[in-house]
Amino acid sequence: MRQRRVKDLDIRLDKLKHLYVTEPKSKKGLWKDLFEELRQDRKERRIFLEIGCGKGSFIRELAKRYPEDNFIAIEAQPSVILMAMEKANSDKLDNLIFIQDHIKDIRDYFENGEISGIYLNFSDPWHKKRHAKRRLTHRKFLDRYREIMGQGFIKMKTDNDNLFNFTIDELSDVSEKLDMKIVSFTRDLHISPYSEGNIMTEYESKFSSRGKNINYVNISVGGHKINEDSVRER
Ligand SMILES: C[S@@+](CC[C@H](N)C(=O)[O-])C[C@H]1O[C@@H](n2cnc3c(N)ncnc32)[C@H](O)[C@@H]1O
Repeated sequence: MRQRRVKDLDIRLDKLKHLYVTEPKSKKGLWKDLFEELRQDRKERRIFLEIGCGKGSFIRELAKRYPEDNFIAIEAQPSVILMAMEKANSDKLDNLIFIQDHIKDIRDYFENGEISGIYLNFSDPWHKKRHAKRRLTHRKFLDRYREIMGQGFIKMKTDNDNLFNFTIDELSDVSEKLDMKIVSFTRDLHISPYSEGNIMTEYESKFSSRGKNINYVNISVGGHKINEDSVRER
């Protein structure tokens, strides 16, 4: 997503301090406590993550749909996350917080088993072969997701057929070692049974309105049981 110049970026970000964590690495192992403070209850709730949330329409809708769960949205670009947070602020959600950072090693932010599921929506494809290690579904990243989840799922959507093929190839190489299993898979989400309950992202709307097929895969991690007949299921 292209970085835009935004007027009064710092002032506007400052007004949304209650929605984001300024030193996220210091919260490793403590995210449940943070949500408890935010929600003022002591219930054990699962935490789900979106890496590269863009303008945030997907994660906001997810947080609205599942108020019993907690959500963390991560986005590298300040001007983009600002838009996501301004909208989330008007929604007055108490189960969604943001991290503005470019994630290199997710284990710096989360303890083993702290996360219950990860959403990767329209991740940057990194077209060049020599940049394959930067793709968020490279085996190096998959291994780290496994660590912070223990048991859980990874759900990926992309318009990019090459990135999708790369992801499936990575999975077929490492799924046994990493205890990952493809539970559902389609190259055309919107005409598949998994489209029920699907939440469109900004990129998804853009590409599907041009007639592009949307690839989707749901991966169970660590033997997590997914009874999936639609993308709603967790
Ligand atoms: C192509 S956009 C998709 C945005 C949104 N998920 C959607 O589907 O509309 C990818 C986004 O991921 C962010 N991103 C890419 N790599 C990231 C990383 N390692 N950590 C945090 N954000 C990242 C980019 O800044 C960009 O906004």
